[in-house]
Amino acid sequence: MSETLQEQAAADHAMRHWNAPGRTPVRIGSDEHKQMFCRMLLETHNPYKPAVIDWPPLAPDELHRITSLPIWDIAVQTEGRASIRVATFASSMHDPLLRQALDMDGGEEARHKVVLSKLVEAYGIKLAPEPDYPAPKDPEWAWLVTGHSECIDSFFAFGLFRSAQKSGYFPEELVETFEPVIQEEARHILFFVNWAAWYRKNLPWWKRPWFSLRVLAVWAFLIYERVGIARGIDADGVMHDATFAAKGAVSVGEALSPRAMIELCLAENQRRMSGYDERLLRPATVPRLAKFALRFLKK
Ligand SMILES: [Fe+2]
Ligand SMILES: [Fe+2]
Repeated sequence: MSETLQEQAAADHAMRHWNAPGRTPVRIGSDEHKQMFCRMLLETHNPYKPAVIDWPPLAPDELHRITSLPIWDIAVQTEGRASIRVATFASSMHDPLLRQALDMDGGEEARHKVVLSKLVEAYGIKLAPEPDYPAPKDPEWAWLVTGHSECIDSFFAFGLFRSAQKSGYFPEELVETFEPVIQEEARHILFFVNWAAWYRKNLPWWKRPWFSLRVLAVWAFLIYERVGIARGIDADGVMHDATFAAKGAVSVGEALSPRAMIELCLAENQRRMSGYDERLLRPATVPRLAKFALRFLKK
């Protein structure tokens, strides 16, 4: 293996495996907990450079499959919105470690957008004109919306990505190129759920009900937004392509029943989270809802 390939393999391993020193239990909400989820994000950063990615040449049918996927507009816009939202929340942070971790999170979102625009350019995908990405007026609300939407979208993306890989819908080289982006989202949601639990614990008791209400409002907003997206309209009333979750399952080719798809999402979620310190909380709401849905889907 050449030196660069060895370095890439080491960076890839490092982004998927992380443990804090010691094995003593850590109290959720403690300073040690905060150190842990921030260090996890900072120390598992993969320093790849989007500019040097070699986009594999695709056969005409592969190229057609990739360019006709109805996800590129929404993917580019989601990353654009996520990066400004996370960056704005980061700049409101006084705690230096949290600030550093959030800056990295926002930086990775910005890098996702660059990766996607390179892909779009390499394969000649036509995009709808991009909207502006204004800085949010309420940084915490925007951060909560981004964090929770990543928890929903990543869960389904994990399964769909694997399904597209297994069916050969995505050529192997493209899967490899994209793999770190998907694992980055796994790290982001791991960071987010730990931050949310830590933050809630550190609020004075009388502020906690307000925070819980805001989280509920975020969920309501996200459900409303997803219904809109499935119909081709986003929350701001802009038309674009459908989500991965809404139409992706139909288009990636592998004929999976809804039950098999959800089981795959659950298994992939488990696999992607398995390399990180067990004392960190795992995203639980979406997997729990998915398991609940399985009860109503026939075998
Ligand atoms: Fe992202
Ligand atoms: Fe993310």
